[in-house]
Amino acid sequence: MAVDPAQRIAQLSSELEDHNHRYYALAKPAISDVEYDRLMSELIKLEERHPSLQSLNSPSKRVGGKPVSDFPTVSHATPMLSLDNSYSREDIKAFHQRVTQGLSDEPLAYVAELKIDGVALSLVYEDSTLVRAVTRGDGTEGDEITNNARTIRSIPLRLREKGISCEVRGEVYMEHADFARLNAEREEHSEALFANPRNSTAGSLKQQNPAVVAGRSLRFFAYSLDERSAQTTTHTLNMKRLRTLGFPVNSAQQRCETIEEVLMFYAQYEDKRSELPYDIDGVVVKLDDLSQRDRLGYTTKSPRWAMAYKFAAHQAQTRLIDIQLQVGRTGAIT
Ligand code: IVH
Repeated sequence: MAVDPAQRIAQLSSELEDHNHRYYALAKPAISDVEYDRLMSELIKLEERHPSLQSLNSPSKRVGGKPVSDFPTVSHATPMLSLDNSYSREDIKAFHQRVTQGLSDEPLAYVAELKIDGVALSLVYEDSTLVRAVTRGDGTEGDEITNNARTIRSIPLRLREKGISCEVRGEVYMEHADFARLNAEREEHSEALFANPRNSTAGSLKQQNPAVVAGRSLRFFAYSLDERSAQTTTHTLNMKRLRTLGFPVNSAQQRCETIEEVLMFYAQYEDKRSELPYDIDGVVVKLDDLSQRDRLGYTTKSPRWAMAYKFAAHQAQTRLIDIQLQVGRTGAIT
């Protein structure tokens, strides 16, 4: 008996999304890339034959939707603020003092996380479906780049629980190996090289053709969840919930009951930093309890309940081999 195309499309879509989740959120792939590509091309062919059965959140959109000439500007439901930076143990201890004072010395706990060096993105889900992806922009409004976000395989197109409305924020980034591959390709085609993975991530998200973005191997780590119907009490529970909904959450996260533990987490990742497959530029310290966060509130720029503790820029010794002098257009020696 012939298979019903609608049924086969639904089955392929759910299988492909399951494989994405296993690969990107759980890091436990169940099939090879070749097998994944075979399922994807079967889906694409079926959708081409039955255009009315194609949905905006079909996994086929991961290989690229329609190019656009401009990205619409969209307001954020709540501003996308930035973090205050600190560069020393003293700065962090002063932050801890301010927090302790603000909370009248009551017990508190922090969560220490890696500060992923990528590009912030807001994802809006309605009825468990991705409806909008918006860049940070000026913090109040950003570019709507939903079709580009759909190509990022670690971003769920559908949540793994029904009927959920929420906003998820996180960082889009590129792994070192993918960055090196991209620049090698660009060199071969005599195209300008990207200076670092963050620049290539930002450049890729701005591409007007989603098919180009699909080829850039971007990834996503979620770091915040705003779910209207859920009454979670801590950031730790929110991160657990994000995993349940299907998001990749960075596993290097530690709940710290003292600021000394935060400092130890920082020292540990300052050492381990070069072993990670992606760039981090520091550690983020956040209060774990959401009601304590509410009580401390925000300045116009940043939350009072969080702080970035940045690493010193990479330093290395180098030996100068040669200097070449040239006479420039204006006669100056360069
Ligand atoms: S929390 C109010 N957690 O760092 C902002 N941010 O200026 C709360 N970032 O643009 C952000 N890793 O995109 C948070 N684990 C992490 C992060 C993180 C990277 C980025 C974020 C923001 C910038 C801070």
